[in-house]
Amino acid sequence: MQRISLILEDKPINHSLSLTDTNALPGEDKSVLQIWGRASLKGHVKISGAKNSALAIMAGALLCPEDCRLHNVPSLVDIMRMGQILSALGVKLENNGEILDINARHLGQSQAPYELVSQLRASFFVIGPLLARLGVARVPLPGGCAIGARPVDLHVRGLQAMGAEVHIDHGIVHAYVSGNNRKLKGAKIYLDYPSVGATETLMMAATLAEGETTIENAAQEPEVADLANFCIAMGAKIRGAGTNTIIVSGVPNLHSVEYSIIPDRIETGTFLVAGAITHSEITLSSVVPDHLTAVIAKLREIGAKVIAEEPNCLRIVPGRLRATDIETLPYPGFPTDMQAPFMALLTKSEGDSVITETVFENRLSHVAELNRMGADIRVKGNHAIVRGVPLLSGAPVVATDLRASAALVLAALAAEGKTTIQRLHHLDRGYDNLEGKLRQLGVRLQRVQEEAEEEETSVPESKVTAPSP
Ligand code: EPZ
Repeated sequence: MQRISLILEDKPINHSLSLTDTNALPGEDKSVLQIWGRASLKGHVKISGAKNSALAIMAGALLCPEDCRLHNVPSLVDIMRMGQILSALGVKLENNGEILDINARHLGQSQAPYELVSQLRASFFVIGPLLARLGVARVPLPGGCAIGARPVDLHVRGLQAMGAEVHIDHGIVHAYVSGNNRKLKGAKIYLDYPSVGATETLMMAATLAEGETTIENAAQEPEVADLANFCIAMGAKIRGAGTNTIIVSGVPNLHSVEYSIIPDRIETGTFLVAGAITHSEITLSSVVPDHLTAVIAKLREIGAKVIAEEPNCLRIVPGRLRATDIETLPYPGFPTDMQAPFMALLTKSEGDSVITETVFENRLSHVAELNRMGADIRVKGNHAIVRGVPLLSGAPVVATDLRASAALVLAALAAEGKTTIQRLHHLDRGYDNLEGKLRQLGVRLQRVQEEAEEEETSVPESKVTAPSP
């Protein structure tokens, strides 16, 4: 059994999850995270590989019948789940720390297992590579999640434009290509919305199609460009990734590759906010500052200094926090995945800020939990009006989705007293060893079983003395 280890409290513990054992699904995680606030952070944090790149690239490895070696792969529950889905499709996976070896030579199955896909929306992206390689794919509809309905109509319409017959039956998307060689055909596709997932699915499908495919109004996220660079390294012919028009000239097949995944810009943004909200000076690497232009611009507007030092290193220097307005948009606009962390930051700023979420229809559920900690936030439709308060106070709160959980951790760092965060499985999905990294920066925190929380536990020593309030 190949294991992925998640670091907790600086000592690795092996979850009983495995990359390949499709029956090993995580039980309900009953632990809670206790954070003692008024933290002052100090030091350096190492940023992990990008979750949203690694997931798409793991699906992209299905396009290739030869060895793929990935470097800088983050240790996350979502990565583990994608590994289990690939394994269920007949793919061989071997994991060694941040290195993941994938071989899809024996890609036999075209049906992705429902119980696994329902746990990981991104797994729907395998439909493109499966169709491109096998001419048939059966993938369960991923269904909605806490932040929105998450339809896949743009994926389906694009595949139909490339000649696939697609119908949905009992919650399963059945797609197949008729004709002798069962090959998709190049097509001109205009996306009604620059969807990241639809762009990635169609770009992957087009790599092995007959002829040329043009994707217009494509998503421009760095993760899309990283996936394209991975496919190009395998021999694909892709132009324009990272712009709103991508052109793919199909090739008969792809070859083995060794590829390193880009740093996680959302994890980077989260730690920059951790520095700003605790008035701490910290450094982060390895990062790509260009991937964070909108985020850094907003941090500077709020009053923090963000300095690009060596090529891949950023330093955040604290400043007085001023209110500002934020509207989430597709890249290069302000990322929706940073909306919740910035809301936590703006609860501590001077003045009123308006945050408008335009990408997902239900991504403000962290407001109630932040208000439980003494924030002053009102919601009107997809707008949140944040009135800055001098101090937050620690409280028992519940994480509702991945980025909402990060916002609660950030608010807890600045709050008076102890905060207890429940439903940590959200956090484990997308942040690699967050607790270990925060502890290294001097935060006092610990993960304990829920019941232990009832019996008051001792306060763990922190590595850095907290500033006198
Ligand atoms: C990706 O999701 C990311 N996930 C999300 O990160 C991120 O928030 C999102 O892009 C936007 O940046 C991964 O890469 C695994 P979309 P994705 O398709 O591809 C609508 C995180 O926290 N839409 O760009 O699912 C959709 O409902 C996660 O790490 C359709 O209407 O996002 C949404 O409103 C959360 N029809 C909007 O487009 C479709 O067929 C953007 O979705 C597809 C999407």
